[in-house]
Order: sequence, then C-alpha cells, then structure tokens
Amino acid sequence: MNLNRRKLLSWFGLGWLASLLPSSLIGCSEATTPTASSSKSSPESVAAAPSGNFKAIGTVAQLDKDKVLVSSDKTIAVVRNPSDATKVLAVNATCTHKGCTVAWNSASTEFVCPCHDAKFAADGAVRQGPADKPLQRFAAKIENGQVLVSA
Ligand code: FES
Repeated sequence: MNLNRRKLLSWFGLGWLASLLPSSLIGCSEATTPTASSSKSSPESVAAAPSGNFKAIGTVAQLDKDKVLVSSDKTIAVVRNPSDATKVLAVNATCTHKGCTVAWNSASTEFVCPCHDAKFAADGAVRQGPADKPLQRFAAKIENGQVLVSA
C-alpha cells in the first residue's frame, strides 16, 4: 500500500511538471508572436520604432541635400543607389586598404579614399586600387522619411 502511495504521488508530481511545460511554451510563443506580426504592420509603425538591428542614420531630406549620410561615428556611409534612386546603399566607410575613411564623390558616384586614391562604387565594389577588397555592405532601407541601416 505504501509503495502504491509513492507511485501515485510520483505520477502526480510528473503530471504537475508536465502541466507547466505547455504554459511555458505558450509564454515563449506569446513573446515572439507580436514581433512576427509587427513585421507585417505598416512601414510607418515600424519606422516609429525601428525593429531588429536597424537604426536611423539620418533623414531622407538630409541624404538628398548632402548626397551622402555618414553615421556619427563615421563608420557608415549611405548613398542613393545610382541604379535605382528609390533605394539606398550603405557601406562601411573604412577603406579596405589601410583603413582611411572614404569620401563620397557625387559627380563620379563613387567613394574615394584620400590616402592612396582607391575608388569604390556605391555598392562598395573596388573600381581602382590599391584596395583589392570591396567596402563592407550593410542592409539599408527608407521608412517614414528616415534612412535605416542594419550594421
Ligand atoms: Fe585607402 Fe590606402 S587607405 S587607398
């Protein structure tokens, strides 16, 4: 009888643990569900609170006025895509040759390094050495008048 009682109590214990598991899973899925649905929400709501790793580098008005947006730490440069002006391209502004900061030349639509004259296309591809590696690319987008970059 005593053995049956122990067995019964252990089954209740397991049942209690098993009953906690689904609620834990639901708790996790509730935390992820709003994020999944927010990605389907309107661009305005996403721009109001940039999701994921995207952060605002500047405004579209600034970009159109200056032809380039540079992050406050000077590591990210964003320009309009010369092939599709509705899109933006973001690159790491650090030259892949020796690490100088490249500058955007809007007339020739390329990044130029002031140290040894390497040239890079708007998408970071090498146009002229001595650099032999492209500038690192970052995902970038325009939302609600803001230029957002994921770096
Ligand atoms: Fe840019 Fe040398 S550091 S070309």
